[in-house]
This record gives sequence, C-alpha cells and structure tokens, in this order.
Amino acid sequence: MYKLVKTVGVVFAVLVLVLAAGITFTIGWRPFIGPKARPLTAQKFQSTPERLARGEYLVQHVCDCMGCHAEHDWTAHGAPILPNTLGVGQDMNLLKGFPGKVYAPNITPDVETGAGNWSDDQLARAIREGVSHDGRALFPFMPYLDFRHMSDEDLASVIVYLRSLPAVHKQRPTTQLIFPVKYLIRTVPEPLDSTVPEPDVSTPEKRGKYLVTVAGCTDCHTPQDAHGHPVAGLDFAGGFILDGPWGRVASANITPDQSGISYYDQAMFTESIRTGFVGARKLNQIMPWHTYRGMTDEDIGAMFAYLKTVKPVRHHVDNTEPPTFCKVCRQTHGGGNEN
Ligand code: HEC
Ligand code: HEC
Repeated sequence: MYKLVKTVGVVFAVLVLVLAAGITFTIGWRPFIGPKARPLTAQKFQSTPERLARGEYLVQHVCDCMGCHAEHDWTAHGAPILPNTLGVGQDMNLLKGFPGKVYAPNITPDVETGAGNWSDDQLARAIREGVSHDGRALFPFMPYLDFRHMSDEDLASVIVYLRSLPAVHKQRPTTQLIFPVKYLIRTVPEPLDSTVPEPDVSTPEKRGKYLVTVAGCTDCHTPQDAHGHPVAGLDFAGGFILDGPWGRVASANITPDQSGISYYDQAMFTESIRTGFVGARKLNQIMPWHTYRGMTDEDIGAMFAYLKTVKPVRHHVDNTEPPTFCKVCRQTHGGGNEN
C-alpha cells in the first residue's frame, strides 16, 4: 500500500514538473501572475500652448483616440461625435466578434468616473505600454502596440491635451474577456525601458511611416488570423472585416499593387481622406477618414509617400461586390472569389 502511495506521489510530482516545464517553455507564467509592468514614476508633463496644440492634433486627427473614446452616430457618413461625449469612452460591443465585452473607458478629467485621479505616468504607461491605471493588462484592441512608437514629446502632448478636455461624469463597465483570452493577453504588455526620441521626418516617406504607425492603419488594413494575429505577408493588403451599425465591410488593400491603390496619385489620396469619397464611390464611415481629414496636406502627402514604398500584395477586396470566400485572407469579403 505504502509503495503504491509512493508511486502515485512520484508520478504526480513528475506530472507537475512536466506541466511546469510545459508552461515555462510555451505560454510562460505571465498569464497566471499578471502583465510585465514597470513601477510608476512621479513624472509630470507641463502644459504649454505647443503641447496643447500638438496633443489636440494627434488625439483628434492622427491617432483616432476619439474613434473609440467618444460616442458616435455610426449610421451617418462621417460618423459624427455625439455632443458632450469627447473622451467619455464607448461601448465597443457595437463591433461584432470580440472575445468578451469590451469598453473604451472614460478618459476625461472626471475624478470619479474618468482619469481625474490618475497620474500623468499612469496615463503614459497605459497609452504606450498597455498596463491600465490599476495594473491590468489592456486588451490590445486599444492600439498600445502602435502607440509604443510614439515619441516622448508626442506622448506628453497627448496627455496635456487629455487633461484639458471638459470633465464628463460617465461610468463605463470594465472590459470582461472570456477564458482563456483574459489570461493570455497578460503576455502582451512590454515595459518601455528607454526613451522614444522624436521621429526622423527628414523625408516624406519617413515622416509618413511614423504617422501611419501611430494612426494604426495596419490594425484595420492588415487581415488577422483566428487568434487576432496579423497574417504574415499581407501587410496593408485589406480583408479585415468590420461588422456593426455602419454595415459589414472589409478593409481595402492599400498596397501599391494593381489590386490595391496603385492607381491613386497624391491628389486623389488627399481627396479621399478629406471627403470620404473615392471619385463617386462613398467610403464607409468605419474608415476614419473623418478623423484623418484634419491632417495637414504635408502629413497626408507623407502618408501616401510611405504607402507607395510598402510591398505590393495581390489581394482583390471590393465592398461593392457580393461577399465570397477568399483563400488569401480566409475571410468572406466582396470579390473574395477572384483571389
Ligand atoms: C481602436 C479603439 C481605441 C483607440 C483608437 C484608442 N483606444 Fe484607448 N482604449 C480602448 C479600449 C477598448 C480600452 C480598454 C481596454 C481594456 O479594458 O482592456 C482603452 C484603454 C485606454 C486607457 C487605459 C485606461 C485605464 O484604465 O488605465 C487609456 C489611458 C487610453 N485608452 C487612452 C487612449 C488614447 C490617448 C488614445 C489615442 C492616442 C487611445 N486610447 C486610442 C480603445 C481605444
Ligand atoms: C477602423 C478601421 C480602419 C482604420 C484604422 C483605417 N482604415 Fe482605411 N479603410 C477601412 C475600411 C473598412 C475601408 C473600406 C471602406 C469602403 O470600402 O467603403 C478602408 C478604405 C481605405 C481607403 C480607400 C481605398 C479604396 O478602396 O480606394 C484608403 C485610401 C484607406 N482606407 C487608407 C487608410 C489609411 C492611410 C489609414 C491610416 C491613416 C487607414 N486607412 C486606417 C478601415 C480602416
């Protein structure tokens, strides 16, 4: 009897070791112990007129913060922001397909329901490193993996501007993801342990690369697999499905391929972003042209210059055609059967 107990004990110990090694070498221990987070600092970002202006420009016209952190009329072309909702967050579940319930929080300076009591560094860490003010790993639908590349000075400007928004009292529920996603996302946040210098804007292409990165164009324009990872080789090639009150549309191929936007010139690109029309064709409002339309001519031109340098990918996506299965991105979208 004792021998049996001992054997069972040994087998159990071995199993635990195998399991531990398995976890160590596969998903790691992060899902169980929480996200990697650096300690908070007492850094404060001083408000200056330059930072306020730059912050407003980035928040309102480049990074599309208000696409998620404000309420919209998503059925109208241009998706106007509803009155008094700037920064109050949004119930994101109007977009279908999340692994759980996702809410963009109130980031106005309201003390009880918003960011009024969060320090500058709590905001800084959330925006670029994906750890919330209370230490949670943020669901990476909040584009902190893009904002990671935001320069220290641009980050300071964004936070100075957020502090200037009118405080609005509006409680949002906390995001609740399903098992196992709620544990797995704890592996995503990575602390930044060095400064992020000002971007190199010495050529339009380099300037455009920075803008396209912090504007999160790839989040929608690169299709994803079932686990939410971008499909390798399909950067900017479209086919990502956005289904909600605006309708069901796939993002466009914006690579310089014939099936993409090789036929655009800079004037046409600028006009599409400014008006939400490509010639006579209406662009759906889930494409944030109504955000980017406030960018300067120089910045819009720079984004186009950069997009001309990305790898052309053959991938036909056309929302005016009926949705059919596409073997390139494995989604069902307009013109999919032509790939
Ligand atoms: C695509 C939608 C989207 C965009 C764009 C977006 N956010 Fe978020 N943001 C979210 C969601 C959703 C959450 C909550 C995620 C969660 O609860 O896991 C969030 C969380 C946050 C938080 C964390 C709040 C806390 O509890 O600590 C801050 C701060 C924030 N966002 C600021 C910004 C700023 C500033 C921008 C623009 C530079 C921005 N967000 C752009 C969707 C977005
Ligand atoms: C929230 C998701 C989303 C983001 C972010 C986004 N797009 Fe789009 N984009 C779309 C969708 C969806 C379409 C297709 C709209 C349609 O067919 O009506 C589209 C269409 C376009 C088109 C029109 C292509 C054509 O069909 O002629 C251009 C150009 C474009 N996007 C550029 C950009 C750029 C540049 C950025 C970043 C600055 C960006 N998009 C960010 C979703 C997005």
